[in-house]
Amino acid sequence: MNERKNIPMTLDEVKLMKKSCQLAARTLEHVGPFIKPGVSTLEIDQIIHDFILRNNATPATLGYFGYPKSCCTSINEVICHGVPDATILKDGDIINVDVTTIVDGFFGDTSKTYFVGNVSERAKMITRCAEQAMYKGIETIEPMGFTGDIGFETHKFVTRSGFHTVKEIGGHGVGRRFHLDPFVPAWGKKGRGERLEPFTCITVEPMINEGTDQFIEYDIPGSSIKYYKTSDHSLSAQFEHTVLITDTSYEILTVP
Ligand code: MF3
Ligand code: CO
Ligand code: CO
Repeated sequence: MNERKNIPMTLDEVKLMKKSCQLAARTLEHVGPFIKPGVSTLEIDQIIHDFILRNNATPATLGYFGYPKSCCTSINEVICHGVPDATILKDGDIINVDVTTIVDGFFGDTSKTYFVGNVSERAKMITRCAEQAMYKGIETIEPMGFTGDIGFETHKFVTRSGFHTVKEIGGHGVGRRFHLDPFVPAWGKKGRGERLEPFTCITVEPMINEGTDQFIEYDIPGSSIKYYKTSDHSLSAQFEHTVLITDTSYEILTVP
């Protein structure tokens, strides 16, 4: 049996999935006001950890393949999987906070890029581009459509905006496990890739870089998860939603 198989959910399962996704979204909403100059990423992690536990849920990243924290905090040139530590946020930074909750065995996965104080025009542009690119991808979703449809529109939008799409890392199926099939790249060809089956969930989570799509991989001590930075140290931004494919359309589940 394939460990990553994404089996359609029953309506009762969809209900639980919605609960988890809603909590993940509420977690991002809760932490937002704390993201300002002078705060450490460790403090952000503690706020998120406490909020998830207070809501009778489990932070999915904690202990996931040895990952040590309850969220990912990816600052400026960090593309994804940045690990919360003593780093202090400073005015002008951008930071992606990625949260995944487990409620009744179902995983809700969402992330946002936040501004720390006043940020540069470039930082605003790449952050807006990443958010819009995510929605361009989501809007292509239809039952029995293709992952390539999502990637095609995402990449087209990013390229026209003058930015770069990370190719090798991307979205995924999600449900009773954190990472399921299919792989959901932020680039691709219409009608290619894998089919989107009704009543399965996927994430759409494009990673957008300022200067190049190339990246460098770094080890996380004690974990088999890697984190990534742009190879030219230019900015990177990302947004992520968990999306349910319905029988007629789609529904974004990671909303408060
Ligand atoms: N939340 C990330 C995603 O969107 C995965 C983080 S796994 C971790 O898929 F181990 F790095 F936390
Ligand atoms: Co994800
Ligand atoms: Co995520």
